[in-house]
Amino acid sequence: MENQVNLELHNLMIRCQQCSLANSRTQVVIGDYGPIYGMLFIGEAPGQEEDRIGRPFVGRSGKLLDEMLSQLGLDRSKVSVLNINKCRPPNNRAPTPTEMEICGSNWLDKQIKNLVPKLIITLGSTPLKYFFPNAKMTASKGNLLVLNSGIPVYPLFHPSYILRKRNLYQEYKKDFIAMYKYYLKLKNLDQIITPIENNQSNLDNFF
Ligand code: URA
Repeated sequence: MENQVNLELHNLMIRCQQCSLANSRTQVVIGDYGPIYGMLFIGEAPGQEEDRIGRPFVGRSGKLLDEMLSQLGLDRSKVSVLNINKCRPPNNRAPTPTEMEICGSNWLDKQIKNLVPKLIITLGSTPLKYFFPNAKMTASKGNLLVLNSGIPVYPLFHPSYILRKRNLYQEYKKDFIAMYKYYLKLKNLDQIITPIENNQSNLDNFF
């Protein structure tokens, strides 16, 4: 989705000096754009491979994400993949709340506006807490939350967590299938419902 709005945004983004992560990054990892009104996966921040190559989720976590997508008959071209932070934190430490707030408000929120996702899938607790600061990862997994803008959010574990806890692998596959069923329902419901702003429960009645 390389329209003029995005090109302008990206030109600013690749020069970003708004926080100290600019000093240690190799490059800004803008993210991968799929179709608008589609599925948007949001992770935490680029790791070593992403920083080197310039694309999100290209390391071991990315391979697992690809595997989960392929069981749904999807590949990366069918979805969008972004991170809260566009620059790799040194030694893969977690981004600080300030770094997330700066990067999120300057870039991610605008990318979301441009993509108009039908469903946001947060991967792990960092992006979940970016949107819902009080949410707990395990309790929220698989529950539909709704942003004030009306966009539904479906929390899933981060692939790196599953790589550390291989016993959750089969459950993770099922989580992706359940998420995709939600997405397909949302796509179909889109023609018959109008989301109610600021209402966390309006979608619950439909599932
Ligand atoms: N982990 C993330 O959260 N994002 C990436 O892009 C890679 C690994």
